[in-house]
Amino acid sequence: MSWLINIINGPNLNFLGKREPELYGKKTLKDVEKSCLETAKDNNLKIKFFQSNAEHDLIDWIHSSREEANGIIINPAAFSHTSIAILDALTLFEGPIIEVHISNIHKRENFRHHSYVSQKATAVIAGFGIDGYNIAIRKMADLCSS
Ligand code: DQA
Repeated sequence: MSWLINIINGPNLNFLGKREPELYGKKTLKDVEKSCLETAKDNNLKIKFFQSNAEHDLIDWIHSSREEANGIIINPAAFSHTSIAILDALTLFEGPIIEVHISNIHKRENFRHHSYVSQKATAVIAGFGIDGYNIAIRKMADLCSS
């Protein structure tokens, strides 16, 4: 049986590759999705990959994950630092949640040091660049099978 993981990306991540490449790298979100699909296949997981700049879309995808997904990997981007609504939506989800940040948010401005989402996340990965998504998928495979 193969588990389904929803990978949810927040605002401005559609500009990955063009946006502050010194911080976020030169790979695009499409590249990230492609590498996630490969890692998921190697780990016998299925994934669905989402991105939106709108908070309500992220909340709707978290809600639909309740019915259809075994785990959530989320990079809430700037909403990590502001959104109690996303935290509340994640609280409705019963499976494992891995929060991913491409950059090390703790090395950056003070306002990035706190994430509401971390309060509900099973684990947080920050600072490994886009490889954080692949690490999250591998760890998700362990969590789902344990
Ligand atoms: C980010 C870090 C956030 O502080 C920032 O707002 C982002 C991206 C990251 O992946 O490093 O948009 O989540």
